[in-house]
Amino acid sequence: MGKIIVGKTEDIPPGKMIKSSVDGRDILVANINGEYYATDDTCTHSGSSLSEGKLNDSTITCGWHAAEFNCKTGKLVKFPAKIRDLTSYSIVVESGNVFVEM
Ligand code: FES
Repeated sequence: MGKIIVGKTEDIPPGKMIKSSVDGRDILVANINGEYYATDDTCTHSGSSLSEGKLNDSTITCGWHAAEFNCKTGKLVKFPAKIRDLTSYSIVVESGNVFVEM
């Protein structure tokens, strides 16, 4: 598929995350201390939008049942049950635009 724009750097300041739709797939893009990371936005537990949860350092906490994922890797950090990791994507920043590589 290649490189797809998901937002502008000015719209994703440090400590923030946004949701962007890429070819029908919801992608979460987070800015951690000036570095950008992307994972699937849909929680692998029951489908919540993770960008509506909380971001603390590199940990995303789901707003529905508090599953925690590492936004740098997509790996599940904490949850009472075994659920799938999130798919993570490479990011490229060019001329103030943030792209995911899929
Ligand atoms: S939907 Fe995310 S923890 Fe349940």
